[in-house]
Amino acid sequence: MARLFLGIESSCDDTAAAIVSDDRRILSSVVANQASLHMAFGGIVPEIAARAHAEMLDITVEAALNEAGICVSDVDAVAVTAGPGLIGGVLSGVMCARGIATGLGKPLLGVNHLAGHALTPRLTDDVAFPYLLLLVSGGHCQLLIVSGPDDFQRLGGTLDDSPGEAFDKTARALGLPGPGGPAVEGEAASGDPERFRFPRPLLDRSDCNMSFSGLKTALIRARDALVSESGGLSTTDRADLCAGFQAAVTEILTEKTARAIETYLSLNPRTAIIAVAGGVAANAEVRAGLDAVAERNGVGFVAPPAALCTDNAAMISWAGIELDRIANPGLVPLVARPRWPLDTSQPALLGSGGKGAKA
Ligand code: KG4
Ligand code: ZN
Repeated sequence: MARLFLGIESSCDDTAAAIVSDDRRILSSVVANQASLHMAFGGIVPEIAARAHAEMLDITVEAALNEAGICVSDVDAVAVTAGPGLIGGVLSGVMCARGIATGLGKPLLGVNHLAGHALTPRLTDDVAFPYLLLLVSGGHCQLLIVSGPDDFQRLGGTLDDSPGEAFDKTARALGLPGPGGPAVEGEAASGDPERFRFPRPLLDRSDCNMSFSGLKTALIRARDALVSESGGLSTTDRADLCAGFQAAVTEILTEKTARAIETYLSLNPRTAIIAVAGGVAANAEVRAGLDAVAERNGVGFVAPPAALCTDNAAMISWAGIELDRIANPGLVPLVARPRWPLDTSQPALLGSGGKGAKA
C-alpha cells in the first residue's frame, strides 16, 4: 500500500499543507497566501508572517486532510520545511509538524525548501537522476546538477538579486500590485520588448553566474526619464517597460542555461534533461525560452505546472518521501535554519555573516 506523507511549508509568506503518496499522487495541496497582510508595508514583514503562519497552520493542515479525504491517523510520515527562509515562519511550521508527528508516533523529516523545488520535476514527471536544474525563485537563482535527494552540484547562480526579487522590485517601481511576477508578466503581454534595451550583465563571461540588480536600476532610470519627459507613465510605457525587463531576464536565464547544458553534457550524464523549478518558472516567456534552448541543444525539457513551481507543500511532502527512501535519519537533523545552501562543497556565492551562506 502506498504511504501517505503530510507536507508542511511556512518559510516565506505562504502557509501550505499537502498530502502526497509515495507512488507520486498528489491527494491535496492547499496554499493560504498572506499577501494582503503585508501589502501596506511594501514587502514581507517577518514577525507578521510568523504570527500568521502560527494562526493558519492547523487550519491549512485540516483543509489538506479534508481535501484528500483522509484522517490524520492515515498519515504515515510528516515532512516539514526546516529552512532556508524567515526563521519565525520556519519555526512555526517545525513546531506544528513536530506536534503532529509526536502525537501520531510517526516519523518526522526536515526538508530543505530548495530541495523541495529542485525535486519537483521527479514528482510531476518522474525525471531520473541526474538532471540539470534551473532553480529560479523569490530568494534564489542557481543552476544545479541534481544527482540525488541530497546531492546537488552548483554550476552557477546569481551574484546579487534573484530574478523573482527583480520581478517584485520592478512591479513596485511601476506601481503594480504584488506578487510582482504575475503582474509584470500580465503587463508585458501587451508590451513591445524592443523599445527598451535593458542590460544583460555577465553574458560576456563564460561561466554560469548571473546578475539582476543592474537591470532593476536601469528600469528605474528609464521610468524616471519617462516621468520627467511626459509627467507620468502611459499604459503603453508601463507595458513596454515590463516587456523589455522580462525579455532581459529571459535572455540572461536562457543564455546561462545554454552554457550549463554544455558543461552538464560534457560530464556524460545518463539523462539529457533540463528542468526548471521555483516561482519564476511559472513565467510563460521564461518557460518558452528554456524550451527553445533545450531543443537547440538536443536535451529534454521539463517544467512542472505553475502551481507546483510557486511555493507549495506537495513539493515538501515529496522531498520527504525521497529523503525517507535514502533512509539515513542522521542525514537531515531537524534544525530550523534561516540559511541552508544545497551545495556546501563550494565556496559561498552569496551572503554569509552570522546566518551563513545563502547559496
Ligand atoms: O518559489 P517561490 O514561490 O517562493 C520562493 O521560494 O521565493 O517564488 C516566488 C517568486 C516571487 O518573486 C514571484 O514574483 C515570482 O516567484 N513569480 C513569478 C511568476 N510567478 C511568481 N515571476 C515571474 N513570472 C511569474 N508568472
Ligand atoms: Zn520557494
